[in-house]
Amino acid sequence: MISSKAKNISPSATLAIDAKAKQMRKEGKDVVIFGAGEPDFNTPENIKQAAIKAINNNFTRYTPVGGIPELKKAVSEKFMRDNNISYEPSEILISCGGKHTLFNIAMTLLDKGDEALLPVPYWVSYEEMIKLSEANPVFCNTDERFKLTAKNVEEKITKKTKLLILNSPCNPTGAVVEPDEIKKIARLAVDNNFYVVSDEVYEAFNYTGKNPSIASLNEEIKKLTITVNAVSKTYAMTGWRIGYCGAGKEIISAMNALQSHSTSNPSNIAQMAALEALNGPQDSVKTMVREFDSRRKLMHKRLNEMGLSCVEPEGAFYAFPDISKTGMKSMDFASKLLDEALVAVVPGIAFGSDNHIRLSYAASVQEIEKGLDRIEGWLRKN
Ligand SMILES: Cc1ncc(COP(=O)(O)O)c(C=O)c1O
Repeated sequence: MISSKAKNISPSATLAIDAKAKQMRKEGKDVVIFGAGEPDFNTPENIKQAAIKAINNNFTRYTPVGGIPELKKAVSEKFMRDNNISYEPSEILISCGGKHTLFNIAMTLLDKGDEALLPVPYWVSYEEMIKLSEANPVFCNTDERFKLTAKNVEEKITKKTKLLILNSPCNPTGAVVEPDEIKKIARLAVDNNFYVVSDEVYEAFNYTGKNPSIASLNEEIKKLTITVNAVSKTYAMTGWRIGYCGAGKEIISAMNALQSHSTSNPSNIAQMAALEALNGPQDSVKTMVREFDSRRKLMHKRLNEMGLSCVEPEGAFYAFPDISKTGMKSMDFASKLLDEALVAVVPGIAFGSDNHIRLSYAASVQEIEKGLDRIEGWLRKN
């Protein structure tokens, strides 16, 4: 009954753990959730008001498929302001979240038998998107700090290589690719003529101060890059579902056609909210990132102190400690921890690494301390 395409999809492990933990909470259990991939902050007031105003003004009808012109212009200005990339509004597409943007890209660029380079550990959905487009994921190693190097990429290039997924800062590791390596990777892409999908949704959560957008390096690599971003993480707007990308007109137009037969336009009200997010005051972002930075340090320090060796995450809001010393595999570790210590984490197997777990520090300091105390106590017993 079910198509072979659909049968091949594994449900998102991150969402599954989150759902189980939330269900346990509903049943009255005091679960600490380190599973969530979203900020615990509320959407800033000015953004919410922009959406309310849009409703009151009856801005409730279909918009152009790829987004309203004002929002495309705001995205184009954002790319110039923050990333030093010049994309015209006609080189921008607005979609229903970063995930939808990436899905459109996979469907638009990948053919059966193409190879898509995917650095490990990787965000859960990339692999499924590649498989759904009947291409083959080719996994690239990263270094001991989970950073992708040009050498890692070079080793895996073949005649079939169609694109590379570059996710910096990275979910799940928080790794930020070194600027020199980004330059070398750009050179490889140009020399070997493959695309780079630069997923920059965690751009705002970068504690190193350096992370050049690959498309900003020169015109040659810009032509081969699709720069992806979203308002979801940056503005605590995960539920609003607005993502966007910049790319050459031909790619944008193909993605626009695909989107016209699937979702049509992203929610018009959410587009007005995103417009305010990009054009309005940015103080809330700074406040949130400052707070995440101190939580990051706390989590990193305590995980190492309790013997779960953890590389310092340089970006995003995740820690990715090594659990191999416990002798448990990641799924076993995560499900026992949830059942026995009421702490939800995501098994690393979902990200291609069974010796790790992912903890999100998008939770209050008090919650982080409570959860880490429980993990520490539980580890002592095991
Ligand atoms: C690396 C990465 N890219 C893209 C997304 C998609 O974000 P959204 O669809 O919520 O905008 C996520 C969300 O978790 C992510 O972690």
